[in-house]
Amino acid sequence: MKAVNSMKAVLCKAFGPPESLVLEEIDSPRPGKGQVLIDVHSAGLNFPDVLQIAGKYQAQPPFPFVPGSEVGGIVAEVGEHVTGLKPGDRVMALAGNGAMAERVVTDADAVDRIPESMSFDVAAALGIAYGTSYHALKQRAQLQKGETLLVLGASGGVGLAAVEIGKAFGARVIAAASTDEKLEVARRHGADVLLNYTTGTLKDQVKELTGGKGADVIFDPVGGDLFDQATRSINWNGRILIIGFASGTIPKFPVNLALLKGCQIVGVFWGAFRKHEPQAFRENCAALFDLFRDGRIKPLISQAFPLERFADALNVFVKRQAVGKIVLRVRS
Ligand SMILES: NC(=O)c1ccc[n+]([C@@H]2O[C@H](COP(=O)([O-])OP(=O)(O)OC[C@H]3O[C@@H](n4cnc5c(N)ncnc54)[C@H](OP(=O)(O)O)[C@@H]3O)[C@@H](O)[C@H]2O)c1
Repeated sequence: MKAVNSMKAVLCKAFGPPESLVLEEIDSPRPGKGQVLIDVHSAGLNFPDVLQIAGKYQAQPPFPFVPGSEVGGIVAEVGEHVTGLKPGDRVMALAGNGAMAERVVTDADAVDRIPESMSFDVAAALGIAYGTSYHALKQRAQLQKGETLLVLGASGGVGLAAVEIGKAFGARVIAAASTDEKLEVARRHGADVLLNYTTGTLKDQVKELTGGKGADVIFDPVGGDLFDQATRSINWNGRILIIGFASGTIPKFPVNLALLKGCQIVGVFWGAFRKHEPQAFRENCAALFDLFRDGRIKPLISQAFPLERFADALNVFVKRQAVGKIVLRVRS
């Protein structure tokens, strides 16, 4: 019989592809002061997990580390000085690392109790994608009702979240993606107009869809050539949100374009926002819970894998096949 003080965990011992990770039995962590031990039911996966295990991410924990930062689960134990949480609470947590395991320890201020109606899968899927997109559209772009929002990579984790949140903010949303199947998903999640960027030029298509004006806000998690094209389809006073570089290429921006278009290039770094502006971060989390309760955001879990299939799950991102969110079901 398995000892309660040990657990299964996916370990990264050296940089490499998903296949280089190993599943091992290790000591279960214990919560220190101000910390909480959570029994992980679902772990949410994100593109940055693939970057981190490959050594291509801005934050790199020392080896060996357990990847994965999003958790839906049940509080198993609380450390000293923890208030407001107790064993048995159903929670979501943004753990930083450690989610791809049967248990994780994290700071209590990274843990929120979840509504009864929220599944563990959704709890593990809401934090990063929806948190990033909400922050991007609310604080960074200050998206206004009636404005046109162009979302690139619109069926991916952050992209689909941006489509739903953009609609909730009252924008007209143009969803752009590489296949008609992916676009159909964006349509089902509220996109007003669909744009396949593998057919025709993005700039011409956006201009046509906006009566020649261009988009007021562009949400770009892709980078590369697509960014170059998108910047040419921005409206006067527009905001171009730099979310990420899933294409693998960090583009360069000719600053004379900012002058000519009267536009802003706006960086979005949700992890840093959480540290620098904790009050606004908490307000965003509360607003996302409200949107979920009102049925105005409906996180799509397109695939769920058992813990043992961690490599297959992460390879969905590598193969450009992620639609909505991918989770590991650690306890079924
Ligand atoms: N700034 C922040 O705070 C923050 C927070 C979270 C994530 N991010 C970044 O946002 C990006 C997306 O993350 P995600 O978790 O939403 O990923 P995802 O679900 O895999 O979505 C990425 C999208 O990018 C597009 N894409 C284009 N070229 C690609 C390629 N070569 N490989 C994979 N996808 C490609 C795909 O759409 P099409 O096939 O339709 O082109 C895909 O839907 C990542 O760069 C991530 O690091 C940033």
